[in-house]
Amino acid sequence: MGNRIDEIIKLIDCCHVAADIGTDHAYVPEILINEGICRKVIATDLNEGPFKIAKSYIESKSLSDIIDVRLGDGLHPIDLKEVDTIIIAGMGGYLIREIIDFRKNEFNNRHTLVLQPMNASDKLRHYLFDNGFELVDEGLAKEDFHFYEIIKAKKRKDIENIDGEIFFEVGKALFIKKHPLLRSFIENKIRINDDIIRNLQSSHAEMDTMKMLRHKKNLLQELIHEYEII
Ligand SMILES: C[S@@+](CC[C@H](N)C(=O)[O-])C[C@H]1O[C@@H](n2cnc3c(N)ncnc32)[C@H](O)[C@@H]1O
Repeated sequence: MGNRIDEIIKLIDCCHVAADIGTDHAYVPEILINEGICRKVIATDLNEGPFKIAKSYIESKSLSDIIDVRLGDGLHPIDLKEVDTIIIAGMGGYLIREIIDFRKNEFNNRHTLVLQPMNASDKLRHYLFDNGFELVDEGLAKEDFHFYEIIKAKKRKDIENIDGEIFFEVGKALFIKKHPLLRSFIENKIRINDDIIRNLQSSHAEMDTMKMLRHKKNLLQELIHEYEII
């Protein structure tokens, strides 16, 4: 397999559920699962031919439980709430732009886009920037005499906006890494905080302490909600 696919894979962070749009042979989903990068992958293709090939390939590898192959145009076959990583590779830059534009208001900071346009990469970067995406990383591959650009983008959103203080409680890097224990870690913190509130209520604690604990609980809940941590 060529260096292009290796470079695409290198830009994909550990994720919960990825969608590979225009999967064709379904090699990318297979690698994401086999290398333990993603827990589940949704592989889609617009055309019956590649869809059937992908489906039987995934069945032959006994991966149907974790790689869900769907037929359909662009992002139509998926709900963006089901996924945190979207890969669109091997298509023209204008088509990739069109696919993203159709659901552009549904993306949030939880989603990472890994895009490998075959052309018009400058137009795609412009589009992403103009529509509130941050270009967070780039990759480059060369096969024979052809260079392939890979763009990694995320919706711009300053994590500090919620409240910087809370990241002394829950390390910011855990959000960036999408650590699998993050949700239960935060929920445990909320439980402990609730216990303290209950105990203090019965001992008539000072208003300021109660206020601070309730504020902390709100911030922790906000983190789960804002970052849709699975
Ligand atoms: C050149 S292949 C790229 C395959 C793979 N993503 C890769 O990078 O190696 C392009 C695939 O995208 C599919 N495709 C084209 N337009 C599409 C669309 N609007 N939605 C989903 N798939 C599409 C084609 O059927 C084809 O299988």
